[in-house]
Amino acid sequence: MHWAKTRSRARFNLATSGIANLSLKDLHVSLDDLEITGDSGYGYAPLIRALADRYQIEPLCIVTAAGTSFANHLAMAGLVNPGDEVLIERPVYEPLLALAHYLGTNVKRFERRFEDSFRISPAEIERSVTTNTRLIVITNFHNPSGVVTDEETLKEVGEIARKVNARVLVDEVYLEMLFQNPPSTAFHLGKEFVVTSSLTKAFGLSGLRCGWVFAEAEIAERLWRLNDLFAASPVHAGERLSVLALKQLAGLAEKARNRLDHHRQLLDAFLDGRTDLESIRPGSGSIMFPRVTQANAEELFKLLREKYETSVVPGRFFESPSHFRIGLGGDTESLTEGLRRLGLALDETG
Ligand SMILES: Cc1ncc(COP(=O)(O)O)c(C=O)c1O
Repeated sequence: MHWAKTRSRARFNLATSGIANLSLKDLHVSLDDLEITGDSGYGYAPLIRALADRYQIEPLCIVTAAGTSFANHLAMAGLVNPGDEVLIERPVYEPLLALAHYLGTNVKRFERRFEDSFRISPAEIERSVTTNTRLIVITNFHNPSGVVTDEETLKEVGEIARKVNARVLVDEVYLEMLFQNPPSTAFHLGKEFVVTSSLTKAFGLSGLRCGWVFAEAEIAERLWRLNDLFAASPVHAGERLSVLALKQLAGLAEKARNRLDHHRQLLDAFLDGRTDLESIRPGSGSIMFPRVTQANAEELFKLLREKYETSVVPGRFFESPSHFRIGLGGDTESLTEGLRRLGLALDETG
């Protein structure tokens, strides 16, 4: 996260994760829609209602939070105690791993292998859980690979969790990029599922920090009480903007989907022409995680940044040093020119 905030930017930024940020004028908002203070003690009712309608979820099962980041923090803090075993996918979005360590848990891992298209293997999870496992952590889509896990597999993971009295935390921040109506969520698969997400990635609305946890009501209640300790109250103007944004999501989704489809074609064409990169191509979403087969990956990233002014996310941040994550959500010119420069850097280092 520190690297993303301080080092990821470049003239040609392919290190993005979601759709490029919108500005206030992209939302139909007037100042009269905003207010500084409102009744948002345990959730601003219009926001909870909008989320409940969109995801077909009981309001009592929804906890709002500042982005998926804080939703993850709340959820994990509410579900585990120091010393509990937490089973986390590898490669993983690093803050999830850091969070589990921060909370003093005993972290174990299960692999999502490139050779297996980064799929989740319920058999491996079953071998890895113990009676001390309290939480299994998954991202869906998977960050970094963008691979989607189907409901059957998730249900199998849910059954494994149930047998040992554990929960499954599914970070669905990229799942919105399926652009379904209603959007699918693992929350509906069983009470062991706790889900986190936000409007951040799919709609270019990161600045709103409109995030949430879906959990069975008893857990949601516990998370609200933890939130009293962590954050007390949210920024009310942000809640109001989030309600307005939720009403406009269909239009924003249309634009985002068109952009991603177009950009995926550009990236596919680039990858088709490279024998020095191997990739799993998820067919949806905003990220891919190619593997560098010939060049020294770190030398490639250095040359790419210093000579070609182009950034990708080095795979070392995902415990996969020969990979890099590339984002499709930026503007078309940056992607086109960034890919051309990536090709030049690969030619030079390969
Ligand atoms: C898997 C995953 N979860 C959470 C986040 C953070 O999301 P938010 O901006 O909603 O806090 C990211 C951002 O890259 C992510 O990749």
